[in-house]
Amino acid sequence: MKGLILSGGRGTRLYPLTYTSAKQLIPVANKPVLVRVIEAIRDAGIDEIGIVVGDTAEEIKTAIGRGGRWGVEVTYIRQDQPLGLAHAVKVSQDFLGDERFVMFLGDNVIQGGISGLIGQFSSSGWNSQIVLTRVSHPEQYGVAELDNEGKIVRLVEKPKEPLSDLALVGIYMFDHHVHEAVDHITPSWRGEFEITDAIQWLVEQGYDVYPYVHRGWWIDTGSPGAMLDANGLVLEELTPAIEGYVDRDSEVDGRVTIQQGAEIINSVIRGPSIIGERSRIVNSYVGPFTSIYHDVLVEDSEIERAIVLEHSEIRDIPARIQDSLIGRQVILARSPIKPKAYKLTLGDHSQVGIL
Ligand code: TTP
Repeated sequence: MKGLILSGGRGTRLYPLTYTSAKQLIPVANKPVLVRVIEAIRDAGIDEIGIVVGDTAEEIKTAIGRGGRWGVEVTYIRQDQPLGLAHAVKVSQDFLGDERFVMFLGDNVIQGGISGLIGQFSSSGWNSQIVLTRVSHPEQYGVAELDNEGKIVRLVEKPKEPLSDLALVGIYMFDHHVHEAVDHITPSWRGEFEITDAIQWLVEQGYDVYPYVHRGWWIDTGSPGAMLDANGLVLEELTPAIEGYVDRDSEVDGRVTIQQGAEIINSVIRGPSIIGERSRIVNSYVGPFTSIYHDVLVEDSEIERAIVLEHSEIRDIPARIQDSLIGRQVILARSPIKPKAYKLTLGDHSQVGIL
């Protein structure tokens, strides 16, 4: 089997963080989501991986290279415009050939990996298998309806009156018949070639499409809130390790990871949380569900349930920063220069909540 990771797209819901950079490279518990996806596919025994890339191709290539660091061989597939998930399959036909493959959205995080479902699909004769999970608000998702034998009969996008609570997770497995399907469908009302339409086509042609019901959590990290949720869930599963320096005046609890070269000075760190390489936490409080990435300075400040990306500085902030996603090279500091005022240089689509 081969793996296909979708890392193109526009990422509009994460503006301004994703104006110029790939959302799949935003770290969750200090590891980019895309790396978590590559590792999940590799751990399921697949080492030939195609990554579909769009405008952020160069950044993704620089971060992942040929995949050797993770023991996989990566091929990049250019999608000139984000015309939908089925379009991403279309542009990958040369890479996929006639092989069975798993398609994984590059911004999804799933608990417990995918070895179980890959094992089931590769030993079956099914044409496709779709990962589903039970959700409490099916009307907000793509939902699958099953027949009495458990086979998929219909997929409905955001149904007003859902007939099942089984929502589509961003993981799909196909054999070569999907290529016929993507050639037959037409764009949807939003102008995209929808993977749900391709699957519906397979069902209507009488191909065997079965569900795999995933138990455990799964998160599409496409929005800031979901990114923070995913970060919290992954942090809870991390095995803590102290590889950096903690001075005697600091208090670090048992669920904290301090990465190499990090320094904790006169501070309180409550887990689950992680402090990245060479980052410095000075006279500060870092609360649960926080990931401070590499080369960050937090000084005389308090922060909780947040993600801070590399090379940012947070200094002398009078109120606690919470539920926040802070990008790269951001400086958030109290200004001594008069007049006393909020002085902001914010990118388009920034969101700031003030006390
Ligand atoms: P989405 O989150 O559905 O789309 P998006 O990334 O454009 O985000 P937004 O809605 O915020 O603008 O995409 C899911 C994943 O699939 C994501 O990793 C991007 C990828 N993708 C492609 O590779 N090609 C595409 O044509 C589309 C639509 C998405």
